[in-house]
Amino acid sequence: MSFPVLPTTAFVDPFGQNRAAIEDIFQTVTQAILNHLTQAGKRAPLPQPVTTAYPAIPEQPGAIADLLAPLQTIMAESMNPAHPGYLGHMDPLPTTASILGDWVAAALNNNMLSVEMSPVLSRLEPLLMAEMAQIFGLGDRAGGLLVSGGTLANLQALTLARNVKLGCGQSGLARQPSPLILASEMAHSSIQKAAMILGLGLEGVGLVPTNANAQMQPDALETLIRAALAEGKRPFAVVATAGTTVTGNIDPLVEIHRIAQAYDLWFHVDAAYGGAIAFSPTHRHRLAGIEQADSITFNPQKWLYVTKTCASVLFRDMALLDSHFRIAAPYMNAEPRWTNLGEISVQGTRHPDVLKLWLSLQHLGKAGYAALVDGSYALTAVMVEHLRQRSDLSLATEPEMNLVCFRGCPPHLAPDRWDGWNAQAQQRLLKQAQVFLSLPRLRGHLWLKAVLLNPFTTAGHLAPLFDQLDDWLRQG
Ligand SMILES: Cc1ncc(COP(=O)(O)O)c(C=O)c1O
Repeated sequence: MSFPVLPTTAFVDPFGQNRAAIEDIFQTVTQAILNHLTQAGKRAPLPQPVTTAYPAIPEQPGAIADLLAPLQTIMAESMNPAHPGYLGHMDPLPTTASILGDWVAAALNNNMLSVEMSPVLSRLEPLLMAEMAQIFGLGDRAGGLLVSGGTLANLQALTLARNVKLGCGQSGLARQPSPLILASEMAHSSIQKAAMILGLGLEGVGLVPTNANAQMQPDALETLIRAALAEGKRPFAVVATAGTTVTGNIDPLVEIHRIAQAYDLWFHVDAAYGGAIAFSPTHRHRLAGIEQADSITFNPQKWLYVTKTCASVLFRDMALLDSHFRIAAPYMNAEPRWTNLGEISVQGTRHPDVLKLWLSLQHLGKAGYAALVDGSYALTAVMVEHLRQRSDLSLATEPEMNLVCFRGCPPHLAPDRWDGWNAQAQQRLLKQAQVFLSLPRLRGHLWLKAVLLNPFTTAGHLAPLFDQLDDWLRQG
């Protein structure tokens, strides 16, 4: 085939005919990426994009070098999680190894749908996932899958829970009494999305009240289950959260598991964020009870610093995926020992996220990740101490991870103006102190949220933040 219209760099010639031109552009982009990453601390944590108009799709091809300028603008105006003042969300700066992994994965362009389409990586993923499941103590039959985000991980877990507990994989829900998932009022919204997708509707999630620390109240859970049963509903799963999205609190896993067992419910733990604690011998006790889970959501894209997307769903018994979910893809070769992962996943064609996860774990090791988790906790203690010293700053909950959610309560203002003060403080911190805190709504009020993930953020960055807040609190 010959395509005179195409630029010579449209593809990398598999026989190296255009190697010099490709090398040129790869090196230029490598330099641009290096400049971008090594100067991240000098750019704003959350730049305000000024470019709002982008060129339309051109009629004719162009030179690849011409793409560099717009590419650099996009890079410069993008969210900058590597900045030590970027504290607003659970989005970390990425490990070096995961950047390399994504780059190599893009070049390989394999497909996690089947073993023949990713012969190495479809073997690596189940081995690594079985090892991850052991880190959570899930036992010999355990394993898991990588999926594109925690939302899909929760969907996959609840789909299996529904099929196993209601036996409806074949016949669907038509003859089922109203099935119900229970989760705390602080659970991530992806649980509600899953209920919608699974045909339960939003009413298919019973929201369990939480205590002052945003943790599910086991008594209230039991009361809701009994009331649902009395109404003829069929509770089939309970979701505990280990690391709530706004405050990073952990539901009482041991007690929730006991109730799940008593009522024959699937026990899912959404540890999308908090699962990373399992790497820290010092802090993993906080997850006690997670080893009893039927399934766990855990996102290495968060506190394991792996480039997005990288999320996992782990199962106590992988055989259940075969018996209650698997749909064969007849257009794929069957391998005797290895599973075509697309047959047991909610996703078909899938990016090989396993490569960057495996490379990051190989590079940093368990000890490296333990140090990162422990370092985050140490910095959190410093921030909490700052807050405790100030009566006009109040904590939303007792932090259990590296999330600190607080709000200013300026004594000179009426309480109904405190939301406005906090919203203004967020903007002022961003503009005047190069600190990005997010502004979640919790219990009807606006709060300031800091996620102390970045290993380049130090106690030295926190002190000026509190000096600023003190100034503004005095001004009222
Ligand atoms: C506890 C929890 N579960 C699930 C999710 C959803 O993950 P994702 O955004 O990767 O779909 C999040 C996202 O922040 C989360 O905090």
